[in-house]
Amino acid sequence: MNRKYRKTVIAGNWKMNKTPSETKEFMNAFKSIMPKGRWCDVALCVPAVCIPVAVRTMRETRVGIGAENVNANPSGAYTGEIAANMLVDAGCKYVIIGHSERRAMGETDADVNAKVLAALEAGLIPIMCCGETLEQREAGITAEWIAMQIKSGLQGVSEEKIRKVIIAYEPIWAIGTGKTATPEQAEQVCEGIRTVVRKLYSSKNARAISILYGGSMNEKNAYELLAQPDIDGGLIGGASLVPEKFVKIIEAANQPTL
Ligand code: PGA
Repeated sequence: MNRKYRKTVIAGNWKMNKTPSETKEFMNAFKSIMPKGRWCDVALCVPAVCIPVAVRTMRETRVGIGAENVNANPSGAYTGEIAANMLVDAGCKYVIIGHSERRAMGETDADVNAKVLAALEAGLIPIMCCGETLEQREAGITAEWIAMQIKSGLQGVSEEKIRKVIIAYEPIWAIGTGKTATPEQAEQVCEGIRTVVRKLYSSKNARAISILYGGSMNEKNAYELLAQPDIDGGLIGGASLVPEKFVKIIEAANQPTL
């Protein structure tokens, strides 16, 4: 991370876990042990039905609540879907877009791009995910694959809006597997992502955007990962479901030595 040029962001991704009642319990417990430091932004992306209670419980804190998906259309006949302005009205600040678990359900690069544009238009901060499979890594095509995902995901995003985008690098083989990318592996890809952004926009913009690592990041490996110059935070699945673990990751990001 590099606090001089960009924000450090620790974001939780709850996936399909916790009911609204459990959300309230978590938020109260989390609030009582939340670190005081202000060095990093903290986000919790929760299931849609948990958003209202999460927003209410965390109202007077610096924790931003987010959604885990959004529909790219502003309104209409899309049964079961949720539009960006609805998330904003419900109090969301962030939205995860293009998580590999959603891509596995059929979400394409074009869908991801449309959702990023819709989120930005509504004033949400998109956390746009990218990542390679183990086969792609072993075939040596990680860099090309990630560059392609970033380029298509950011198509049409203006110079003024690019700094609002957070990118999360999540190698698919590391998600929920307990297998973390080494700090060097993660840094290499995150640095590559910044280079892509530099070419698409400018050095200034590339320097200013936050790039997160995700994939079995936990209270034990967070410090080492965050010590890498191009890793500006984490997108945390499993470890964000336990207040004590999540707090330890925030504390790792708050270390004065970083
Ligand atoms: P994990 O999930 O931390 O449980 O590996 C990360 C993610 O999928 O965002």
